[in-house]
Amino acid sequence: MRGVIERLSDEGLGILRDGRREILVPHTAPGDTVEVLRWRRKKRKLIATEFKVLEPSPIRTEPKCPYFGRCGGCLLQHIPYEEQLRFKASKLSKYMGLNVNVIPSPKIYGHRNRVDIVISTTGIGFRRYGTWWEAVDIEECPVFGDSSGKVLKALREFIEDEKLSLYDIRKNGGFLRYIVIREGKFTGELMVNLVTKEGNLPESFPDYFPFASSIYWSVNRSDSDVSYGDVERFWGNPFIREKLNDVLYLIHPNSFFQTNSYQAVNLVKKVTELVDGEKILDLYSGVGTFGVYLAKRGFNVEGIEINPFAVEMANKNAELNGVKAKFRVGSDKDVENLSEYDTVIVDPPRAGLHPKLIRKILRDEPEKIIYVSCNPKTLSENLSALGEKYRVENAIGLDMFPHTPHVEAIVELRKV
Ligand SMILES: C[S@@+](CC[C@H](N)C(=O)[O-])C[C@H]1O[C@@H](n2cnc3c(N)ncnc32)[C@H](O)[C@@H]1O
Repeated sequence: MRGVIERLSDEGLGILRDGRREILVPHTAPGDTVEVLRWRRKKRKLIATEFKVLEPSPIRTEPKCPYFGRCGGCLLQHIPYEEQLRFKASKLSKYMGLNVNVIPSPKIYGHRNRVDIVISTTGIGFRRYGTWWEAVDIEECPVFGDSSGKVLKALREFIEDEKLSLYDIRKNGGFLRYIVIREGKFTGELMVNLVTKEGNLPESFPDYFPFASSIYWSVNRSDSDVSYGDVERFWGNPFIREKLNDVLYLIHPNSFFQTNSYQAVNLVKKVTELVDGEKILDLYSGVGTFGVYLAKRGFNVEGIEINPFAVEMANKNAELNGVKAKFRVGSDKDVENLSEYDTVIVDPPRAGLHPKLIRKILRDEPEKIIYVSCNPKTLSENLSALGEKYRVENAIGLDMFPHTPHVEAIVELRKV
């Protein structure tokens, strides 16, 4: 089937229309003339698996990464950045039913502070687009930056010198599974976390990474293909630090941190601008990214989060910055007395707010809610439910994830 890609789908794939049928073609741009030779069905969608670009669209730009098109990490490097922003703004506007601007990421390469590199018999790099069994061998990741090249070179030397086996996902055999690299972009501190199956790691391991301030060895004893495990040993510092303006945060191999540090600065600044009053609830507080930042500015902050380790990290972050924010373990559906807070910040996972939490918000009627969302669909559903008592005062998009279809939103809601 041949034709012209008319626009991008929400998932960032080019849409080729054939009558009433749509085929989604990865790594294509609006205006490309393509011929699709094969496709597969995924849920209720048709996705091209073999296709040719017969005539490239004039809007295309040269991707910076030599692995683009094979690597499963980025989908949109061939789309000029202004177009990526327009695509994200229209996606947010469509779901929210109002015009939303998207704040560009201050950097569009070298911005990611974390990469999870697959170590497998098929390559050391990222999963090949559309597969779970194959990896694309890479020398560095431009989206992370130069230190990825240093780590990958050192890792390959270590593997060769020590004759180590690589993971075979189909057979669940081999020793080395992942290396996760994390970097404090504003502190220059680097962490490597080697994830293996159970076994003996040669003592020489840390000698290969003298440029890293924190070196970890974790063991994933399960068959599941995840890039974390139980910490077996570490060398150097137990944490690296990242700095957003004047606030320091600790990063541990098993803790989350916003992955684009440069744009995370804009995220915390925007949330701070929108906060009203003195007493703030940071719900789904994670490692305290918002809560600690706000406490440093004099707000009285409480945080609630379901993951005990994240709560421990958030309290450590408060202590590190000499502020009194209090974070505790709790679930969204069990929060009470929301009317005690002047502003409630919610930053839920992709599934959005728990229906019980929505009922409690509507019952307790806190004056102001700041909703931070990474999923426009659940955001818009939750906003309709809250619409009974809350009016949207302000909505902005932030591009935390250049070259991917994802977009973050901050919505300010006030009680009507
Ligand atoms: C999008 S992240 C928020 C991250 C946080 N704002 C930060 O920057 O570190 C969502 C957080 O919600 C937490 N979470 C997931 N389900 C939850 C629940 N039922 N109740 C409370 N927190 C939950 C997750 O552990 C995660 O830390």
